[in-house]
Amino acid sequence: MRGSFASMTHNERIVILDFGSQYTQIIARKVREVGVYAEIHPYSISHEALSARAPKGIILSGGPSSVYADGAPIPSVDVFSFGVPVLGICYGLQLIAFQLGGSVDKAARREFGRAMLQIDDTSDLFAGLGAETQVWMSHGDHCTSIPDGFERIGHTENAEICAVRNTERRIWGVQFHPEVHHSTEGKTILKNFVVNICGCAATWNASSFIDNAVREIRERVGNGGVICALSGGVDSTVAAVLLHKAIGDQLHCIHIDSGLMRKGESANIIEMFKTHFSMSVDLVNGSEAFLTRLEGVSDPEKKRKIIGNTFIDLFDIEAKKFSDAKFLAQGTLYPDVIESVSIKGPSATIKTHHNVGGLPEKMNLQLIEPFRELFKDEVRRVGRELGIPEWFIERHPFPGPGLAIRIPGAITSGKLDILREADEIYLEEIRKAGLYNDIWQAFAVLLPVQTVGVMGDERTYEHVCGVRAVTSTDGMTADWYHMPYDVLARISNRIINEVRGINRVVYDISSKPPATIEWE
Ligand code: XMP
Repeated sequence: MRGSFASMTHNERIVILDFGSQYTQIIARKVREVGVYAEIHPYSISHEALSARAPKGIILSGGPSSVYADGAPIPSVDVFSFGVPVLGICYGLQLIAFQLGGSVDKAARREFGRAMLQIDDTSDLFAGLGAETQVWMSHGDHCTSIPDGFERIGHTENAEICAVRNTERRIWGVQFHPEVHHSTEGKTILKNFVVNICGCAATWNASSFIDNAVREIRERVGNGGVICALSGGVDSTVAAVLLHKAIGDQLHCIHIDSGLMRKGESANIIEMFKTHFSMSVDLVNGSEAFLTRLEGVSDPEKKRKIIGNTFIDLFDIEAKKFSDAKFLAQGTLYPDVIESVSIKGPSATIKTHHNVGGLPEKMNLQLIEPFRELFKDEVRRVGRELGIPEWFIERHPFPGPGLAIRIPGAITSGKLDILREADEIYLEEIRKAGLYNDIWQAFAVLLPVQTVGVMGDERTYEHVCGVRAVTSTDGMTADWYHMPYDVLARISNRIINEVRGINRVVYDISSKPPATIEWE
């Protein structure tokens, strides 16, 4: 069994059924921001499983399918007779029309982007809103006639039927996406649904999350031992501190130095845990194993698989040293899950993050992933609540596969050394300029391209170093950071002058999407 928060005991919860929208988790997160615990389940959840969750309301997410397509996702449960309020979003609205006797058609033109919603009624879902509000549309099909017993509560220029309700059956549906940032009053709409319509009290926050997590971890673990894979990043650190709070010395923290870490990082990690958290961490030197297995491998997905498997192999060896160990704790976040495998619902695989996709099916340890439903900023809030110092909480994310995915092509220890030097200078200059906290993530990349340069009177033929800095709130989307020219100039100057093996520096100005944050 996976240790997700889906299995936690919360007094009141909203269940979101996932039909494959890239925004599904944003719905959950927005509902949690309102102060109500929300969790996501596949649209195919069984009646028993849904009943066991005892939701106070159900939200049907959007999704890429047409309700008429072969194999279109249709819930196994009759959600409309389940007995709690339902809100259908986009595909969710089309499903309401399709299943309850309305009709859905291909729109003459697909509609993406901003639209003005004209509000026909402000008594429940749109309470507190004016006559119109900006919303975000993203759909091909649309609802053309509403089922009996329903009434229209909103429309736009292109969508005659944009919001509907049936107050008797307690069903609401909207064509737009209230969860996305560009729906300016979307959060009020979600709040109206979960608080006013579903009757949730809105008391959920980082501290109640910790209380629940501690209780859940204790129940699950009993007196067994838990091994925590400590990467030194924010996620695994917050996970370790949370677990330590729950089970004390039953937690065994292990840090594997993969040889793919930044300069001095492993030593710093051990030291920090000792001095800040009075927790002891076992250091395993795995560089040789990783570098040997990665030799000559340049395909990014193969690298990830090898790294994932090597981590697991080494943990397995370590785990055997703790005879009580039954669990492996990881700081996996929701974006790692959604972009890796379609665990929750039918969305596309982008890349296999090593801490999810690389796990062998049959592992001797059960997984505990307390943050599997959360985003980075939510984990940071949990970390602050746990008393982890601010300088640490604000550290940029660092990927599990480390520098291996920042060296496109085959990895050698020589290239790793070059990149470590460049990366150190890059981050040092960003900190000196006071920009570190404005940036979500900054790192250097060593390109498998050599270019001609001239140093002194000598011709050089060395590597190109790419530097990247992005802003983001959750890693799902990101914009390139508009770094001041004088800082870029200092960075370029220092890297070229001080790092042997690099004679050219370029700045990455790609946003996500269509690029990703890491280069591999
Ligand atoms: P991408 O490159 O997918 O990155 O836009 C999004 C965020 O995830 C981090 N990342 C990873 N983290 N294992 C991790 O633990 C991985 O395999 C991995 N790949 C990317 C990346 O650094 C960024 O913060």
